[in-house]
Amino acid sequence: MEKIRYFDHAATTYVKKEVLEEMIPYFELNYGNPSSIYKVGRENKRAIEISREMVSKELGAKPKEIYFTGCGSESDNLAIKGVAYANKAHGNHIITTKIEHNAVLETCESLEEDGFKVTYLGVDKSGKISLEELENAITKNTILISIMTANNEIGTIQPIKEIGEIAKRHHVAFHTDAVQAIGNLRIDVNENNVDLLSLSAHKFYGPKGVGALYVREGINFKKMQNGGHQEKNKRAGTENVPGIVGLRKSH
Ligand SMILES: Cc1ncc(COP(=O)(O)O)c(C=O)c1O
Repeated sequence: MEKIRYFDHAATTYVKKEVLEEMIPYFELNYGNPSSIYKVGRENKRAIEISREMVSKELGAKPKEIYFTGCGSESDNLAIKGVAYANKAHGNHIITTKIEHNAVLETCESLEEDGFKVTYLGVDKSGKISLEELENAITKNTILISIMTANNEIGTIQPIKEIGEIAKRHHVAFHTDAVQAIGNLRIDVNENNVDLLSLSAHKFYGPKGVGALYVREGINFKKMQNGGHQEKNKRAGTENVPGIVGLRKSH
């Protein structure tokens, strides 16, 4: 293959050799279905649980608070729709920003078609939101704040700790799309008052097609995909075991 010079690691990264090497056995010999009772199945289940533990450690979370998904976009969809539909009886208002990735913006737009109200906060010339504007936008109907950690076009990092404090003070769940941040920034979900966090392996030298969603224990969210009872019955579908192993290794 022709050698290229590639400079856009915000779009995607290559898969590190050592990550690929860890993944290969799960394609070749160790390909059991993690839901099956055979030895290979149980080994695959164990591989997933090791990944869950390692990812949770990176975020300062508990293993049971990590859900593996098919990508960062799916994590964003599950976080926002999951919280919105589970908390419909408590309110219908969501706050986000105008500069989110489409995985957040289009999810919010689809919720608007379904009766939810969304406030899209503007940003200053450096791409930052105003904390005062955020707090003023909260109403008694606000159920979720979704603000990205780092922007995918201009790299602006939002003050997520302060956003989390505001959310906590008003008893509103706080989701952050950290797809561009994880791998570059260390985020402890407790220190930053984050209730839900999305990440995607292909942004930090892992494979494409695997992501994770952190959901704080006690946060009510509805599953968006029906079928098998994988991922504590919150995300149906046979797990992408090589991908999940790759996500863990690239961390
Ligand atoms: C900020 C942000 N959120 C979400 C996504 C979507 O992630 P994925 O490509 O894994 O679906 C991206 C991908 O570019 C992104 O930059």
